[in-house]
Amino acid sequence: MKIPFLSFDAMNRELRADALSQFEKFFDSHWYVLGKDVRSFEQNYAQATQVNYVVGVANGLDALHISLRVLDIGEGDEVIVPSNTYIASVLAVSYAGATPVFVEPRWETYNLNPDLIESAITPKTKAIMPVHLYGQACEMTAVQEIAQKYDLKIVEDNAQAHFAQYDGQLTGSFGDVNGTSFYPGKNFGAYGDAGAITTNDENLALKAKTYRNYGSQAKYYNEVQGINSRLDELQAGLLNLKLSFIEKWTAERQQIAKYYDNYLKNIGDLVLPITAEKATHSYHLYVIRTRFRDKLQAFLHEKGIGTLIHYPVPTHLQEAYQSSNFEEGDFPIAEEMAKTVLSLPMYPGLTENQVKIVAKVITQFYERF
Ligand SMILES: Cc1ncc(COP(=O)(O)O)c(C=O)c1O
Repeated sequence: MKIPFLSFDAMNRELRADALSQFEKFFDSHWYVLGKDVRSFEQNYAQATQVNYVVGVANGLDALHISLRVLDIGEGDEVIVPSNTYIASVLAVSYAGATPVFVEPRWETYNLNPDLIESAITPKTKAIMPVHLYGQACEMTAVQEIAQKYDLKIVEDNAQAHFAQYDGQLTGSFGDVNGTSFYPGKNFGAYGDAGAITTNDENLALKAKTYRNYGSQAKYYNEVQGINSRLDELQAGLLNLKLSFIEKWTAERQQIAKYYDNYLKNIGDLVLPITAEKATHSYHLYVIRTRFRDKLQAFLHEKGIGTLIHYPVPTHLQEAYQSSNFEEGDFPIAEEMAKTVLSLPMYPGLTENQVKIVAKVITQFYERF
């Protein structure tokens, strides 16, 4: 039996009839970008994430980039980012013209280690960008205390952790202004690229709305040099539909993680994911760690089980950041994670039996090697 890394089958089955009629409405509406469905999605998502304002944009990278821009962060400024993240978090800082300053994650959670933030702060530091990686909420109380002490802004990267919580509060509602992604493979994914900015600040929300649409509030009058990062009506309409399923699908991911936790207990050198005290995990990814990662991945592939590596090269060692002159050894925790992490299949619709099969194949691997 083949078990893909990601399958939309079960989710699409539940949505199919409504999604197709949504498409007809969209098609016949003759209004395709920034219209009433975007407005209603912005309201619905604001209510669901418990923030005052949502600004729909074209993707998660833009959401983060615009968030930094509206805080007037740019050239000469530094932003603290985790050394273990998807490159988009870091690119957003670079796009804004600021300098990313990397801080290592905790081994246990893969998330930014608040104990290491203070030593990375300089007079140029303007913001901290906690990334709720793999779906687990960062230690937000500690991050907030540091931000307050040094008068720094917080921009959460909530691309992977829709509806996770820290100390009872939803991710994406802590920072001054935050970005999220609705890339199709995300927990709350659209049917194309889409993203959003979340904030409780009316003025920042208005700035973001202006910035996403060529820096314009009134058509053909441009207050700032903005960009084109508009959300389209089709994606907003489909996201509106998906919103009513997300609680159920998040719970399903958490149940699948419990199956994995149970069936993968005490196997070889496997390190299983841990959820920190006060945090919840929405399991965008179920990430394990092993010294034999590459061999295990090849073995699983041979047996028809899809896996991915998030991420094989840490950002500071990417060719794209060569000009920053980082070297191997600069961020050893992120580097070691890149060599040892493996993401197992995880999506609503994955059954307990499929998880058992994955665990059985992993057990076989350790018996053979
Ligand atoms: C942690 C993180 N930040 C930002 C992004 C950027 O989102 P997008 O691909 O929608 O631009 C992604 C996803 O790709 C991500 O995983």
